Amino acid sequence: MCGIVGYIGKRSACDILINGLKRLEYRGYDSAGVALNYNAQLTIAKQKGKVAALEAHICNDVSHDAVEKACSGIAHTRWATHGLPTEENAHPHRDNSGRVALVHNGIIENYAALRKQLEKKGSSFSSETDTEVLAHLVGSFYSDDLLGAVSEALKMVEGTYGVAVLANDSPDEMIVARKGSPLVVGMGSDESIIASDVSAIVAHTQQVIYLQDGDVARISATGAEIYTLDQCVVDRNISSVEWEIGAVEKSGYDHFMLKEIFEQPSALENTIRGRLDKVQGTAVLSGLNLTPRDMASIKRLVIVACGTSMHAGMVSKYLFEGLADMPTSVEQAAEFRYCNPLVGADDFVVAVSQSGETADTLAAVRESIQKGALVAGLCNVVGSTIARETGRGIYLHAGPEIGVASTKAFTAQVIVLLMMALKFGRRRRLSREAGLMISREIEQIPAMIEKVLEQNEAIAKIAEKYAQVEHAFFIGRGILYPAALEGALKLKEISYIHAEGYQAAELKHGPIALLQESTPVVALLNDIPGKEKTLGNVAECRARKAPVLGIVTEGDLATAESVDDVIWVPQCSVYAAPIISVVALQLLSYHIARIRGCEIDQPRNLAKSVTVE
Ligand code: M6R
Repeated sequence: MCGIVGYIGKRSACDILINGLKRLEYRGYDSAGVALNYNAQLTIAKQKGKVAALEAHICNDVSHDAVEKACSGIAHTRWATHGLPTEENAHPHRDNSGRVALVHNGIIENYAALRKQLEKKGSSFSSETDTEVLAHLVGSFYSDDLLGAVSEALKMVEGTYGVAVLANDSPDEMIVARKGSPLVVGMGSDESIIASDVSAIVAHTQQVIYLQDGDVARISATGAEIYTLDQCVVDRNISSVEWEIGAVEKSGYDHFMLKEIFEQPSALENTIRGRLDKVQGTAVLSGLNLTPRDMASIKRLVIVACGTSMHAGMVSKYLFEGLADMPTSVEQAAEFRYCNPLVGADDFVVAVSQSGETADTLAAVRESIQKGALVAGLCNVVGSTIARETGRGIYLHAGPEIGVASTKAFTAQVIVLLMMALKFGRRRRLSREAGLMISREIEQIPAMIEKVLEQNEAIAKIAEKYAQVEHAFFIGRGILYPAALEGALKLKEISYIHAEGYQAAELKHGPIALLQESTPVVALLNDIPGKEKTLGNVAECRARKAPVLGIVTEGDLATAESVDDVIWVPQCSVYAAPIISVVALQLLSYHIARIRGCEIDQPRNLAKSVTVE
């Protein structure tokens, strides 16, 4: 949610901040703003809408001196929580005196009480945001020690924050702090860049420090001094970011989403690399850090996740129960902590999260750790909160995912979960031969995805036929049921078509009432067990005049004849079927959204990482 970037160094800050904001725009895009510290003055520019609007405003209306000569500044792109997406509510916010400006990601939960206290002391507010309260609070403590003032203010705050603060009379420092919202410090030569994620930093340096919850840091051109809120010094390692700037550029594609769909074969090769033992037919997942004793004592797997990551978790239920006889429950992370979750020492809780920052998933992790379960994180973003707090887990290594609609993260998550199921399966019941067969199948998946991607033009053509519908259903059985849910989620989030995923047989228990000529059904008809039954459900849909688009295995002509349109996918085992089908559905949604002229990478109302409840 919300992107923060800050710069302090020898170069002109404004360009660096604007380019950083563009890289972070996927985190939120309701409004954007920048504060530049020049000549003992904080120049603030804000605009409703996207970063491009802010850029134009700066070009036309803001003092050239500040824009060209300020060597420190902070900037923000917002996903509104408190208050409408307006210019007044956009960050940065100032204190009453105008000496302090700050940008914030997160939620100050006790902001209303703090605001009343500050108003009593004479503060007057110009926005509806929780953030402005924090700016006033810092201002109320500030005389000449900005680090101390920020620390004191943050001690009074309940909630979450990633925050960056400037004071007009202290041009050589910027104070940053985090609790529950990510913040990374990039260590350049004679300059430092801070941001809510590394994608805004890698253009300048690959040497970074991931701040931890409770850290507050004084950032200068020469580096970072990091403290606790009580001003005890803390030591944090410098890490090297593994990828370069190209990974966060569109590289000739029209949209990040399309690039990320097409990246899947190579991304999944990275996910798989070095993780299959081709002698023993098992997976090597050392990050799980499970002893043979742990493996033997685990009685149940509990997946906690949201959105697309939860759909990947739902696929894994079939994998763990099918390959490892391991009872598996998949929990919506947002519900988990509110329903007395019965997890304990015999349970292995796996948090699945691309960003590793999703607030509800993180809360489920904390609840599970507190209840004594073994907890692992399955994240894409290195150094993310879930990865750090679980202390054990598996990185996807899928590369940065910028499109708000998750694509390559889903397929990488399913592959990792499949490798985990293989590992548990080999310990519990699978023979070496069976394990070897599954590992060979896993290695084939990138090539199978290539074959689906070859259908891109054919899928674009089919998309033309379905692009103007208002409602759509997606149906599948067994392991293809979560794939149907994911297909529906992809379509609704980027094309704004109302779409529902159903277990194929469930349709007739109510939703079938909605079927008519203008309501297509996308049926997952891969040639795996269950297909014949789904074909029965397809017939029921067609009898109600609903057009059916089938995802059908190459060469399965009989199935193709039972539907109105076909997207062909390669022959594969039951384990690979949800992955390759979802790739076809990603392309279908992409083309439908493109034809409808939607903002594919930044769909309305959404943000890439949801760091609020
Ligand atoms: O970063 P996470 O995987 O934890 O995010 C979970 C969901 O917010 C995310 O998958 C969301 O549903 C995507 N927009 C789906 O495309």
